[in-house]
Amino acid sequence: MVTIGATGRTTEGFAPDLLAVALCKGESPQDLGEDAAMVVSNGDFSGKVGETALLYDQYGPAPRLLLVGVGERDLVTIEKLRRAAATVARRARTLKLRKAALSLPTLSDTGTREAARATAEGAKLGLYGFVKHKSAADDHELESFWLVADDDALDEASEGAEIGQKVAEGSALARDLANEPSNVATPEYLAGRARGIAEKYDMRCEVLDRAGIEAEGLTGLATVGRSASNEPRFIVLEHRKGGEEAPVVLVGKAVTFDSGGISIKPSAGMEDMKFDMSGGAAVLGAMEAVGALDLPLNVVALVPATENLPGGGAFKPGDVLKMHSGKTVEIVTTDAEGRLILADALSYATRFEPSAVVDCATLTGACVVALGDHASGLMGNDEDLVAELQAAGETTGERAWPLPLFEEYTEQIKGDTADIKNSGGRKGGALTAGAFLKEFADYPWAHLDVAGTAYGKKGNAYTTRGATGAPTRLLVEFLLGRTQ
Ligand code: BES
Ligand code: MN
Ligand code: ZN
Repeated sequence: MVTIGATGRTTEGFAPDLLAVALCKGESPQDLGEDAAMVVSNGDFSGKVGETALLYDQYGPAPRLLLVGVGERDLVTIEKLRRAAATVARRARTLKLRKAALSLPTLSDTGTREAARATAEGAKLGLYGFVKHKSAADDHELESFWLVADDDALDEASEGAEIGQKVAEGSALARDLANEPSNVATPEYLAGRARGIAEKYDMRCEVLDRAGIEAEGLTGLATVGRSASNEPRFIVLEHRKGGEEAPVVLVGKAVTFDSGGISIKPSAGMEDMKFDMSGGAAVLGAMEAVGALDLPLNVVALVPATENLPGGGAFKPGDVLKMHSGKTVEIVTTDAEGRLILADALSYATRFEPSAVVDCATLTGACVVALGDHASGLMGNDEDLVAELQAAGETTGERAWPLPLFEEYTEQIKGDTADIKNSGGRKGGALTAGAFLKEFADYPWAHLDVAGTAYGKKGNAYTTRGATGAPTRLLVEFLLGRTQ
């Protein structure tokens, strides 16, 4: 595992195998030697985002110098620094080096702490891979990654790097859980991982099994999980470091495999439905970071975990459920299962008298159609909470974009034989799903639909194919904001 930290330019023993210097577009390198100056003046390196140039024997402490572009100075964002750090870390690993360092340009509106944090996140997440099921994997690991800081900013940089590392570890945990296939990541497996987090950070963990779920009246969860031999679990994880303050409750959908049930999905691409527990994975990842950062807050995580499978005992279209809250729901399609298990978790959350509840879920294909994989859908019943989450998304690069919950969407899910139905049809699918959840939230609440953002086929500078860890970092950033 890579060690990440900050170092001064003149710190004794500072001898990386590669020193990277981030350069803005059109700017020439300072004091980095003649070749570096020439590679820019000759136009071989312009400083545009993601561009790199590798040079040798240029700069005192390192035998290799890597220029990495971050684009126009006025347009540099924290996200671009995060990506630059990832690019550097990956290149150092490809070169089979052990120690890499990165020096950032001084930016007027970006603090050292934030820049260091982003750098640590980028390096750590950029090096992430899910290789545990491969017999032979390239096992070269980068040992250390240092952010080079001015001596007077070293403390701030070190602090930022430490926070970034912990946040990234939470995100990497979410990736690990979500990448795990459903024959490994069963509801009980997730419960076990939650117990592990509780033990490590002295949190309280309670896990309801099938009998406990039924006894508690979590009908949605019990019903979706009814025909699976990997039994459902309801995971409650509590971090209590905020005195008498009302807690924030995080709710994460964890359908460890969504076949659609009796309303079965087409088989093409169905393997991706192992990722349908990404919301739950992100909530557990966020709790890992909350524990590591020892946040002075009360945070409760609720993770309803189940498979959604067809079978002789499975629930069926037309069935009516009496939910945990007492509301009745008519099943239009067994493939709209996420909202059923979330609804119960949301009404369960009421007992905590929360200051805010945020749920995240790979809830609808419609959200992917609306926003692609560039932002999560964000809905809620509290403008301030929605604004807080949107801002946290911007800061972390795990963007979330507000979508409306007009009354008309609630009209659309009025039931025929029950109070509401679990699908409002194709039109506004992400919004009717949000409107459904809203029926079960009687406190400030927001919902993140991460169907498009939690996993992907491509990856970028710091994500790979598969789980992205989103919205773990968004959630942690939101919580960090609540400590101020
Ligand atoms: N897990 C899916 C949503 C999903 C779809 C996530 C594609 C990621 C990619 C969810 O349980 C689901 O099946 N939703 C249905 C709802 C519909 C039947 C009302 C959907 O989006 O099609
Ligand atoms: Mn489904
Ligand atoms: Zn689902």
